[in-house]
Amino acid sequence: MKTAIKIPPPYVTLAEIAAVAARVKGVVEQVRVAMLPPLARKSAPTFSSMQLAAICELDKGKLDYQIKKEVLPPGTVSDGRRRFTLAETRTWARSLRAGKLRPEGCEAVTISVGNFKGGVSKTTTAVTLAQGLSLRGHNVLVVDCDPQGSMTTLFGVLPDTEVESDQTILPLCLGETDTIEPSIRETYWPGIDLVAGAPLLFSAEFALPARQTADRKFEFWNVLHYGIDPVRPKYDVIILDTPPSLSYTTINAFLASDGIIMPLPPSALDFASSSQFWDLFTDLTEQLVTARGAHKRFDFVDVLLARVDSSDSAASHVREWITAGYGKMVLPVEVPKTTLTATASAEFGTVYDVVTAAANPRTYRRAFDAYERVVNLVEEQVQAAWLRQQIGAASDTQQPQPSVAAVGV
Ligand SMILES: Nc1ncnc2c1ncn2[C@@H]1O[C@H](COP(=O)(O)OP(=O)(O)O)[C@@H](O)[C@H]1O
Ligand SMILES: [Mg+2]
Repeated sequence: MKTAIKIPPPYVTLAEIAAVAARVKGVVEQVRVAMLPPLARKSAPTFSSMQLAAICELDKGKLDYQIKKEVLPPGTVSDGRRRFTLAETRTWARSLRAGKLRPEGCEAVTISVGNFKGGVSKTTTAVTLAQGLSLRGHNVLVVDCDPQGSMTTLFGVLPDTEVESDQTILPLCLGETDTIEPSIRETYWPGIDLVAGAPLLFSAEFALPARQTADRKFEFWNVLHYGIDPVRPKYDVIILDTPPSLSYTTINAFLASDGIIMPLPPSALDFASSSQFWDLFTDLTEQLVTARGAHKRFDFVDVLLARVDSSDSAASHVREWITAGYGKMVLPVEVPKTTLTATASAEFGTVYDVVTAAANPRTYRRAFDAYERVVNLVEEQVQAAWLRQQIGAASDTQQPQPSVAAVGV
């Protein structure tokens, strides 16, 4: 009997991959334009009286009293309902929450969101946190350190076609500048500025070690730390989104930060990989920082249980392992896996962008309440970091000390 001649499928050529890449890029652009008509730009949400009252922690009587006083923006009444723009809402929050905002003389608290893994909700967490904090009156800068530029996309800017090198951290990494300031742009969301990410950031991974080879004194791990310094006095919180690896940029982001948040879904593989991440990170900081006589400490390191699937029975075991391993670092909140978060991102947004009327109220509340709790917990840690800055500044004026500021590397 003759055996049939087997013919393997053809190779995939680079030209074919290039053609597919071009096609996908075109589809993304079309989807973006369809999602964000008419000018293909996102617009900021507006807020009801109830939402405004919740943000400013006012009851109905106090809200009415404030409106009557006519000091704060009155919003717009239509069909008997009062609505406030995001900018108006922030004016209220900045006025009525003044005691919870950055004290005079303090600098921005910088937070990196990181994890080895992709898809664990780093970007969603970073953007949601920025939005929640800005709604509470804080002025936020977000820095997209991921060449994939997902954070940039969530701000309605397409990384492939709408981001130039000088709008990213690349000029810093190349040594063309020593400040991040010229790369900052405003976004559709008043109160959040953006340093964009784009595929061109991949070259930072070659530039940083190359500069180190050319100049032994160059500290490739401190580029972002020093580059952010000029803008720390101008913002309340700076949030860095990082790529899913312990890359040169990720190390830079972590060492530029006062706090780290690691979103971690309760899955065994994600848990195991998170331990490798910290192992590698501590090895590296040991070599780069401690061995050189410098030091680094963080105001906080949080593990955030994210994308928690309530129907997954294995999740509860892993949750126990996570708590046993990370102890007090685990934030006392879980972000559930919801269709709402997934749908919002399909529309290039987050729970804060979702129009409440269009969402399933129960799913919306579940997702929204969890994120609100995350924002509150992080805000408390930011306030504690400011307190440390103030104590550090006071003791510095009493007796001159070597640099022991909370951010000191
Ligand atoms: N709580 C959640 N529930 C459901 N889907 C989520 C949730 N958080 C994130 N996602 C989705 O998971 C995917 C990966 O999230 P992303 O924030 O981009 O992760 P990362 O930055 O870690 O790669 C996105 O499609 C996002 O919409
Ligand atoms: Mg991401």
